[in-house]
Amino acid sequence: MANNLLQGKRGIIFGALDEKSIAWKTALKCHEQGAQLVLTNAPVALRMGEINKLAEAVNAPVIPADVTNMDDLKNLFEQAQAHFGGKIDFVLHSIGMSLNVRKGKHYTEINYEWNQKSLDISAMSLHRVLRTAWDMDAISEWGSVVALSYIAAQRVFPDYNEMADAKALLESVARSFGYHYGVRNKVRVNTISQSPTRTTAGSGVKGFDGFIDYAEKMSPLGNASADDCANYCAFMFSDMSRYITMQNLFHDGGFSFVGVSEAVVKTIEEGQQ
Ligand code: NAI
Repeated sequence: MANNLLQGKRGIIFGALDEKSIAWKTALKCHEQGAQLVLTNAPVALRMGEINKLAEAVNAPVIPADVTNMDDLKNLFEQAQAHFGGKIDFVLHSIGMSLNVRKGKHYTEINYEWNQKSLDISAMSLHRVLRTAWDMDAISEWGSVVALSYIAAQRVFPDYNEMADAKALLESVARSFGYHYGVRNKVRVNTISQSPTRTTAGSGVKGFDGFIDYAEKMSPLGNASADDCANYCAFMFSDMSRYITMQNLFHDGGFSFVGVSEAVVKTIEEGQQ
């Protein structure tokens, strides 16, 4: 449904790896709503070449940037502003990576060097992005920055491992930087806490199939899809959400406020018979 919600707006989308990526779907929605885009991902991810399909579909340049490298980020924001001929109106941070999960380390036995790297890529990278934009005054007034989070920031999901800590830190950075950027430039910073979704990053979590089925049964509306998350992002980038900032916004079909559902009780009772 195209209704030009983002007509005249210009945004940077981090993290489109393949067609399943939430960032990929968000880029398509933003384009459909009239936005102009710049796409970016880590050089290693770009080597897969998939992103070129998306770049063509949304008519956007691809600028490589490792989100832990300040020189890459500075170059990205400079090139994006040159491409647009002005400031940036919105940014999607759709990035997550856990070295300890990838290497099969249990939460109680994490390697701290890998942990530093995971926190840097998945959480402090939001600070790095905001700081780069802040130093260059690259985001327009009422601009909107969204990062993607998960409810393991608030509640324990044992197999989510160190990513739970990363998401808690990510949400805190959104709040803290959101305060300063709001005061100085009326720039908004929020996190969207999304249902489990079948993507490359999502499927890396141990026991993901059980995880996603459980969430589906617990949520009155069922799990929110990547497409619906993309719609929510587009809304958050639009002027329809101007006074929303420093929030962690649950986009999860109601999961976060359910204690237990009848469907889950029924499954447990059936298992006991
Ligand atoms: P994805 O695997 O498609 O996206 C993750 C992206 O992070 C990839 O494009 C990857 O190249 C990028 N990335 C990793 N290291 C990077 C670096 N050093 N510099 C720049 N980019 C880097 O998976 P998905 O699910 O679309 O993930 C997007 C966001 O959504 C992540 O923050 C994830 O934690 C979050 N999320 C995902 C959920 C799920 O179940 N899939 C649920 C809730 C939140």
